[in-house]
Amino acid sequence: MSGVSAAKFTMTQRYGRITGWGKYVPPKVLTNFDLEKMVDTSNEWIVTRTGIRERHIVEDGETNSGMSTKSARAALDKANLDPNDLDLIIVATSSPDYFVPPVSSMVQDQLGAKNVGAFTLAAGCTGFVYALVTAQQYIAAGMADNVLVIGTEILSRNVNWQDRNTCVIFGDASAAVVLQASDEPTGVLAHVLGSKGSSAEALIVRGGGTTIPMSQRVVDEELCFLEMDGPEVFKFATRTMSKAVRQTLKTSGLELEDIDLIIPHQANTRIIELAARFLRLPMDKFYVNLDRYGNTSAASIPLALCEALDDGTVKDGDNLVLVGFGAGLTWAAAVVKMGVLEPLSELTFFRWLSVDKVKAAASYAAGRVTETVAPVLLPLYTRALRVRQRVWKK
Ligand code: ACO
Repeated sequence: MSGVSAAKFTMTQRYGRITGWGKYVPPKVLTNFDLEKMVDTSNEWIVTRTGIRERHIVEDGETNSGMSTKSARAALDKANLDPNDLDLIIVATSSPDYFVPPVSSMVQDQLGAKNVGAFTLAAGCTGFVYALVTAQQYIAAGMADNVLVIGTEILSRNVNWQDRNTCVIFGDASAAVVLQASDEPTGVLAHVLGSKGSSAEALIVRGGGTTIPMSQRVVDEELCFLEMDGPEVFKFATRTMSKAVRQTLKTSGLELEDIDLIIPHQANTRIIELAARFLRLPMDKFYVNLDRYGNTSAASIPLALCEALDDGTVKDGDNLVLVGFGAGLTWAAAVVKMGVLEPLSELTFFRWLSVDKVKAAASYAAGRVTETVAPVLLPLYTRALRVRQRVWKK
């Protein structure tokens, strides 16, 4: 299906099954001990306040589009899909190669994907969940069969390496998933998206946009760097995460007990611990890998999802909740059913023969048997009743 084709009107509900996933993390590791030599901080402070021990940082010459292409290729290989089979590419990022053109078009070109739509979506660290939900909607509407969703970030180039408030937090990474149309309830089953622009200044790059265009002033006043009101974001995150999880569960009709794993945005262990306490869940219900990667913003949730799938924490049929928060301020949560087997086009007989279909066949057979046997049994039964009544009368 081409990226610009007309809607396919279908009678059945369509879902976006996650059939492939992949990641790319730059090899260079920056530990807390390395940071001790760069700014006034300590390993102890970073570990106790955030949970982060090390992060990966790009080398000169690495680009967002290059990293995105690498994670996308890994996801496409896992899904056994050719780039030319894609209908749509969505890249979630706040650190694209350029303002113009959108990095999604560069990824499309580097992948060699033809006849495909591509766009970039910015919703801070929440971007990947927004992009996943968007991809699901394209599939549900019949506008796409195969969608690539990528979350990539190079925030190491947007932070001030003299500002200990921000430079210890972030890391660089890319991760991607492939969604393919399926008629079985799988992929995103329910979601909630949110935005609170009144708190926009809590996470902001003030200069270099169209409000304060790039100029000597932007450089002199260091307005090109990410500024963060950490405690404000912290409060927002702890309040929002548990609320968003509950809201999306309510929409899905599932209970917390039905959820196998929650994959939260990997910003701070303390934020995740508080969310666990608010939800009255043990920490082993949450996947955490931020100790090794730091906060990789839009890449953090897909990176954690990839690792959870690769290390066997997430299995076929598991119910997950992905939940993120970030610049905007924004938040999003999605209930995702993992069904990592074949997409619709490759269904085997045994997958086709689902429990529901077996139940329907059994009930149909029972109906047919009743229809056939009833005309014979009913007169016999009526006759037996009459005989019994005559015996009672005597
Ligand atoms: N090393 C040592 N001391 C530090 C450091 C550091 N790296 N950073 C701050 N401090 C100091 C502060 O200066 C302050 O000192 P003071 O009391 O003398 O003034 C003290 O530590 C406490 O600072 P707080 O900011 O109050 O520390 P807090 O416990 O809130 O932790 C943190 C800061 C880790 C940033 C926390 O607020 C947090 O995680 N917030 C959420 C951030 C987040 O999730 N951001 C990502 C959003 S995603 C996106 O869209 C990009």
